[in-house]
Amino acid sequence: MNDKNTIDLSWDDFDELRDPRPDNNAFDAVVDRAMSRRGFLGGVLAFGSGAAVMGAGVLGSVRGAQAQTSHFAFTPIGISTDYDIHVPDGYEWNVLTRWGDPLFSDAKSAYSPVGGVDVSMSDRVFGENTDGMELFTDGDKEIIAVNSEYVNPKINLPEASAGMPQSADEVTLLKNLQGVTVMEVAKTEKGYGVVLDSPYNRRITHETAMTMDGPVAGSDLVKTNADPEGLSPKGTMNNCGSGRTLWGTYLTCEENFNGYFGATSPVEGTEGNIRYGIGGEGRYAYEKFDPRFDLAAEPNEPHRHGWVTEIDPLDPESTPVKHSALGRFKHENAEMVQANDGRVVVYMGDDERGEFIYKYVSNGTYNEGGSADGLLSDGQLYVAKFNDDLTGEWLPLTPEATGMTIEEILVFARIAGSKVGATTMDRPEWIAANPLKCEAYCALTNNKNRGVKPNAGGDDTPATGPNPRETNNYGQIVRWMPTGEDHGAQTFTWDLYVMAGNPDVYDNAYGGSENITAGNMFNSPDGMAFSSDGMLWIQTDGDDSNEGEFEGQGNNQMLVGDPVTGEIARFLTAPNGAEVTGLCWSADKKTAFVGIQHPGGSWPDGAGKPRSSVISVWRKDGAMIG
Ligand code: FEO
Ligand code: CA
Ligand code: CA
Repeated sequence: MNDKNTIDLSWDDFDELRDPRPDNNAFDAVVDRAMSRRGFLGGVLAFGSGAAVMGAGVLGSVRGAQAQTSHFAFTPIGISTDYDIHVPDGYEWNVLTRWGDPLFSDAKSAYSPVGGVDVSMSDRVFGENTDGMELFTDGDKEIIAVNSEYVNPKINLPEASAGMPQSADEVTLLKNLQGVTVMEVAKTEKGYGVVLDSPYNRRITHETAMTMDGPVAGSDLVKTNADPEGLSPKGTMNNCGSGRTLWGTYLTCEENFNGYFGATSPVEGTEGNIRYGIGGEGRYAYEKFDPRFDLAAEPNEPHRHGWVTEIDPLDPESTPVKHSALGRFKHENAEMVQANDGRVVVYMGDDERGEFIYKYVSNGTYNEGGSADGLLSDGQLYVAKFNDDLTGEWLPLTPEATGMTIEEILVFARIAGSKVGATTMDRPEWIAANPLKCEAYCALTNNKNRGVKPNAGGDDTPATGPNPRETNNYGQIVRWMPTGEDHGAQTFTWDLYVMAGNPDVYDNAYGGSENITAGNMFNSPDGMAFSSDGMLWIQTDGDDSNEGEFEGQGNNQMLVGDPVTGEIARFLTAPNGAEVTGLCWSADKKTAFVGIQHPGGSWPDGAGKPRSSVISVWRKDGAMIG
């Protein structure tokens, strides 16, 4: 299926190639007959434990407040449509590091504006397409671990390659520019910079040696010719969102791993491979140059990817560990919190249309400064069921409930989730837990197939509950409040924090919830993180055409939401073509680090190739912003 255009597809449209939707469907005109906007709000937002907060009265006053000046510490900015970054008055930004920038002095010449990155130095520079990131400290040292989710072959490879590797060296180049970067950063005269040659600096790529723990380690499902014991998977790929453990390590989350595998000769489509979109030809032609990625030679290799992988950012010699107990799916991020009894809880989304939200709960407990042994290898995986009455429950994925072995449950978590009746969601992206209140938020970015076709496992996707709009091109943010204010609880109540939409175009559910106005509208929420003051930062990865149903929304952006009042204000706009993804703060909370992925034009250099970058943002008066 690799025609010349395949590489131009988004990852979710790549999935559509393998599981196409019908040409015509009964819902094409759904926008016209959607329920009224106010009626929708009465039906969803004004019930449940969120009623006091999200009632129409409060949101009505929010709308008035937003028209004037917010209570946020900045004046919200308007949309942009150019190839630049914009932040509020009183703030500044600069580039921390770009695709191809050196981590070590011997790689200073690795990048050239014409040729891109030299393959010989490609594992000693910052990777492409920055995504999830977290900041760690070691004494007074500040260390960022950051994902490079994928590569744009047309930017990285010579024009003659037409966006597809033509040699083993070109495959190596693409492999090296993805994965994870660990880098020490330090204050400069203006913002922050990378500390060249820091002993913390490290690249982790598709080739880095790893181990696996949990029930799948050593199972037949993950044995390969290179690793007959099934204990030593190699590499981490499509590292999307991130998380951090209570004990100070980094969690990198493997998302669209399916696209890296292909078959050099026909292979039978298994239930597992079909559910995960594995088959046909790979997106980067790896299989033509490396048998590890050839389904005909190594049918189990894909089972070794799609996991949450733990990296110790303070020990460059440490071996990353894939935690099979957390399940295999297209992991967005991993938000770790603690149950009231001390057990470790990890919330995780599976980003594909109609897939699920999961929660892992450890069997053991964690005490600050104590051992983390077994906490991510011995526990129970649950999947979320949202009921229309604004209640929900976590369904345990057990052999009894699914008829599957524990190894099968974890490797094929999607199939297990379908068996227990999990709720199909509108592409779960980041999950963020409020540090000031027992609640968690998940960005449901969009789902054009909601109400149109089932998910890849055949589960229905009715427009109900937290996914209420058919052909949902705008997305929403759902939040849940665990019973008894305990993340360890098996039940919860939920509401929608916001439904994105366009109130200028629609006077119905597609106009968005009442905390969406002409002044703050956006589409496709994706990255999310809470700052220490309990504000929810929302990053978008959507349609930035500023046309049609997206007119007035401009480029992708970062907004700040107040969980209590519902107020949302625009803080930053990205260059056209980019998504905003990845957010963390300096130790003193005076600088925010923000990821700018796949920018258009020639940003940020102003000439030559566009370069995915991490930027620093700070207040000119030196006040805290995180
Ligand atoms: Fe990599 Fe779902 O974003
Ligand atoms: Ca994302
Ligand atoms: Ca996205």
